[in-house]
Amino acid sequence: MSEGPLIRLVDVSKRFGDLVVLDGVSLDIPAGETTAIIGPSGTGKSVLLKHIVGLLDPDAGEVRCFDVDMARASEAERYAVRRRFGMLFQHGALFDSLSVGENVAFPLEHHTSMTATQRRQRVDEVLAMVELPDTFDRPTTALSGGQRKRVGLARAIVMEPEVVLFDEPNSGLDPLTSDAIDALIRNMKRKLGITFVIISHDIVGTVAVADHIAMLYGGKCIAQGPTAEFVRSEHPMVRRFLQRNLALPDGTGGVAGLPGLG
Ligand SMILES: Nc1ncnc2c1ncn2[C@@H]1O[C@H](COP(=O)(O)OP(=O)(O)O)[C@@H](O)[C@H]1O
Ligand SMILES: [Mg+2]
Repeated sequence: MSEGPLIRLVDVSKRFGDLVVLDGVSLDIPAGETTAIIGPSGTGKSVLLKHIVGLLDPDAGEVRCFDVDMARASEAERYAVRRRFGMLFQHGALFDSLSVGENVAFPLEHHTSMTATQRRQRVDEVLAMVELPDTFDRPTTALSGGQRKRVGLARAIVMEPEVVLFDEPNSGLDPLTSDAIDALIRNMKRKLGITFVIISHDIVGTVAVADHIAMLYGGKCIAQGPTAEFVRSEHPMVRRFLQRNLALPDGTGGVAGLPGLG
């Protein structure tokens, strides 16, 4: 593989009818690290994620994943790239008619030739990784919001992806449950070497978990960089977003006390 970023967006534009959502977004996502893409609701974060996995094609510009130009690649090449991704969509619901274990086993059943015994073994392994051991037979309807996210995470990693795309990992969760999800993400990055791309409208959780942050606003990526640099960005919209989300007293500082930035 080349030395470049794992995922690269160059001048990506996308509109739906009259609505311009992405207006020339350029963004690099490095391998082996966690990158957060933040921005207010409705700015096109989920749309951007769908471009990365080739579920949407840009009107202009280029999305490269593992050096494959997604829009120009053959269906077989796109499929090969997608096999290297694990995804948790924002509203990526679990199948409530299936048990926890059956939900996690789903990709294995459809995309591998594993036997039932092998699948069971693998699923039990990933359920333990997300700290839900011995839950294979539990109905998903019995789970809390945080547990549902963890089952979703187990399903996303069951195929041993190199990259996991996680849309709004902390939405709808209380702070303690959010922290537990963040800790899982950090662990998986460290132990499994997974590259995470996290979408969030919440800067607080993001700062604790992300190595890099990019901010989407007005159809553009207005700032990106290592987390410690990003939170010191002078960009007025970044400052406003940080102040509102962190209740900073002013736009000049106050980040020293943030988790992970001491
Ligand atoms: N398939 C689609 N067709 C039309 N409009 C869409 C489609 N997907 C998203 N949009 C619109 O694009 C904008 C950005 O959406 P989204 O990426 O979901 O925002 P967010 O940053 O909250 O994730 C919204 O106005 C949304 O309604
Ligand atoms: Mg979204």
